[in-house]
Amino acid sequence: MTVIAIDGTFASGKGTLGKRLAAHYGLAYLDTGKLYRAVGYAVMQAGDDPENAAHAAKAAKALTGAELDDPILKSGEVAVNASKVAVHTDVRQALFQFQRDFAAKGAVLDGRDIGTVICPDADVKFYVDAKAEIRAQRRHKELISYGEDITFETVLSQLIERDHRDKTREEAPLKAAEDAHLIETSVMGIDEVFDTAVRITDAILALKTT
Ligand code: C5P
Repeated sequence: MTVIAIDGTFASGKGTLGKRLAAHYGLAYLDTGKLYRAVGYAVMQAGDDPENAAHAAKAAKALTGAELDDPILKSGEVAVNASKVAVHTDVRQALFQFQRDFAAKGAVLDGRDIGTVICPDADVKFYVDAKAEIRAQRRHKELISYGEDITFETVLSQLIERDHRDKTREEAPLKAAEDAHLIETSVMGIDEVFDTAVRITDAILALKTT
């Protein structure tokens, strides 16, 4: 049962990498950010406060998984709320088992704490990052393509705010696992990132089967 854990900053390319690795190795794929986004969105919908731990935990406990394909989860506002609900211990605990169960059958998961907390025994771990300006450019282009009216400066400042919150929170902060392979994607194309990850994964999996 192969588990590949991918952590990293927002818009670093970890989702694209995760999907491609899953297809390549015939594994299921879970974008765990969607779980936090779904909770952030549910809190918004209820008119509750994402910074209130009890409000956020109530929404996390009510999550069924059916909410994850809603395109509204891609919006910038939902993303900011996702990082606010993600600081609460009760929210993270409520989402823990869902992620563990998903990984149990062999999978690729991407997020912020996959290699450190959710799947510390993953076969292969990656930490993906790129410069903030470059990630903001990618994200801005994407949001514009969804028809969102947002400036590059707003995207950059939201991204910096979110990175800061994710890296400095007490519970499961974003950081590379000690045994993660670092991939810096600022000047790498999607194919190069994928090829690098496949080379590393193949080498590790070959060692495990010998
Ligand atoms: O990856 P994505 O940008 O969709 O994640 C949205 C937010 O959810 C992140 O900024 C982070 O605060 C939170 N998150 C998390 N742990 C994960 C995945 C996402 O805390 N494993």
